[in-house]
Amino acid sequence: MIGAYAGIHFGADFNPDQWDESTLDEDIRLMKEAGLTIATPAVFSWARIQPEEGVFDFAWLDRVLDRLHEAGIAVDLATATASPPPWLGLRYPETLPITADGTRLIWGSRQQYNPSSERFRQACAALVTALATRYASHPALAMWHVGNEYACHVAESFDDESAARFRDWLLARYGSIDEVNRVWGTAFWSQRYGSWDEIMPPRATPTFANPNHTFDWRRFSSDMVLECFTNEVSILRRLTPSIPITTNFMGLFPWLDYWKWAEQVDVVSNDTYPDPADPRAARSLALEADLMRSLAGGKPFIQMEQTPSAVQWRPRNAPKRPGQFPLWSMQLVARGADGICQFQWRQSASGSEMFHSGMVPHSGAESSSWAEMVQTGQSLALLSSLVSEPVSARVAIVWDWENAWAIASSVGPVERSAFETAAAWHAALFERGYVVDFVRPGAPLDGYELVVAPQLFRLGAETAAALTAAASAGATVLVTSGSGYVDLEGHAYLGGYLGPLAPVLGVRVTDILPRGDEPGPESRPGRSARISGAIAVRENARVLWEGRAQAGAMHSPRWAERVVLDGAEVIARFSGVDVDGLPAITRKANGAGEAWYVAAELDAEGLDGLLAELERRSGLRPELAAAPRGVEAVRRGDALVLLNHSDDPVAVDGVSGRDLLSGRVADDGVTIAPRSAVILAGDPARL
Ligand code: GLA
Repeated sequence: MIGAYAGIHFGADFNPDQWDESTLDEDIRLMKEAGLTIATPAVFSWARIQPEEGVFDFAWLDRVLDRLHEAGIAVDLATATASPPPWLGLRYPETLPITADGTRLIWGSRQQYNPSSERFRQACAALVTALATRYASHPALAMWHVGNEYACHVAESFDDESAARFRDWLLARYGSIDEVNRVWGTAFWSQRYGSWDEIMPPRATPTFANPNHTFDWRRFSSDMVLECFTNEVSILRRLTPSIPITTNFMGLFPWLDYWKWAEQVDVVSNDTYPDPADPRAARSLALEADLMRSLAGGKPFIQMEQTPSAVQWRPRNAPKRPGQFPLWSMQLVARGADGICQFQWRQSASGSEMFHSGMVPHSGAESSSWAEMVQTGQSLALLSSLVSEPVSARVAIVWDWENAWAIASSVGPVERSAFETAAAWHAALFERGYVVDFVRPGAPLDGYELVVAPQLFRLGAETAAALTAAASAGATVLVTSGSGYVDLEGHAYLGGYLGPLAPVLGVRVTDILPRGDEPGPESRPGRSARISGAIAVRENARVLWEGRAQAGAMHSPRWAERVVLDGAEVIARFSGVDVDGLPAITRKANGAGEAWYVAAELDAEGLDGLLAELERRSGLRPELAAAPRGVEAVRRGDALVLLNHSDDPVAVDGVSGRDLLSGRVADDGVTIAPRSAVILAGDPARL
């Protein structure tokens, strides 16, 4: 529970320091009208709180916390370190980050700090100590919001202080320069290091930098940013030991290993900004909610930011469609959120976010979006029975930031990012009605019926052992192409890819056979090309089921691998130039379960077809097997949340319970209005 409120929180970033103090009265009145239960002040208030070194002004913030408390609104107090004031950079230039090509980033925007800078960390410590001392016993203080979206704009700095810390980091990890040389493979291109001073951040280089150097730099940079966070956390834990701590994550953000970060927070929270104009937006909300619940170890998370309507940072900024804001809020609750908060409370009147929507828009409470804010506040107030209730998933996706970094650092051969692959699998599962847990590599996989390991390019023995154990225990384990190319030292597996996964899968990958770039129509040789016109152009390969009619044949647009069978049976084969007849999907029975390998890179239709095949062969079923088109069904605790994402009213047959939102009782089906939700709880016979 965060603060004294036992329901699902409704809240917002609150920046009263951008406004005249007289606005506070109206803020509080409107917050009560909207049913706000929590507010996050001071996210970007460093310059206001500390106008110069050693000088603090808390009087305005005292009044804000007092007024919020009087109104019964809990405070998620920001530590205000996300945007250092200009005086810090001017006096201490070493606090400013430097890009790979040597450019120093300065103030006038936000987040201009070098994560390795000791001076920056000291300045944060001074501010956080002053804040925590001031508000330790303030009754409104319910949670600490440390920093803001760490690394969102600046994830690394290539300055000399960072270089020195990088060498220390390498020494701690490898123990000797010889070991760095061995792991990085510096025998290649005369890159051998003779002393620590020779090792630099991967600054601008003439051509490809050493992949393991780049990979270690990413790990190091994630650790540096994490140290900025724990620098503040250790002070807060000492001064306010009973106040929970959060910092807002950004979904599958590519620069930070959130598995490591999640170990350091008390409450996982997230910011998500899907495009309202994109019909696939609900997918990305579902993906991020599933990931956050998983990072929280199955416990609830807080949606720390979503936009009330339009953002201002896309080339075209569509507003949320009518009903989308409450619908998406319910979707997040369904998948495990215990709080729905917005960026931001009041739309700014100046600055670069002036045209980003706020809960209170420029036009005030007259705007149509305000009505939806109030409606959502009222709806969330009806859902206290869902607080802390678990969301259970039968399907897991193995997700690993370090693997994604290894792919990004590698020069070839995988053209697709791990983020895209994981998102494509999640999307296919979402569309078929599944809730998915994300699991850390090597974590136990007990209880999952299907475990998908997408593109585990960098694969260790521990992960392979966990997947093998899951298959033996009865799960269907599905490993995709691009997996097991390198070991945990980033060295290629010799003797066939898949390394330690080869035994459970019953296959080894001997050749990788991606197709090349599609020749444009102008480069397709015509009749005039006597020689080049006689050469086949490789098209997208098809993937055909073995020994069956080919209704629903699949496509593998970009990727193919040659696998050697070593105990597996062939489920489907490639059809196409140069790959004709090669196994594309294989299966091997293992103990009580089975292990599948997909040597293709299936498109969305293909992924859907493969999931349908898995359902046909096993007892795997989504929450509501016959959910109508447009309807997402998720069970949270014993409540069945039905979300109609479509533009039409939809009838869902055979469901029953009392709708927590409307109070109506359904005993055999409900009709759900377009872009709205029904949350059925309890047995209607006893209502
Ligand atoms: C991020 C930040 C907020 C704000 C929003 C705008 O999520 O945390 O401060 O800039 O983006 O969409």
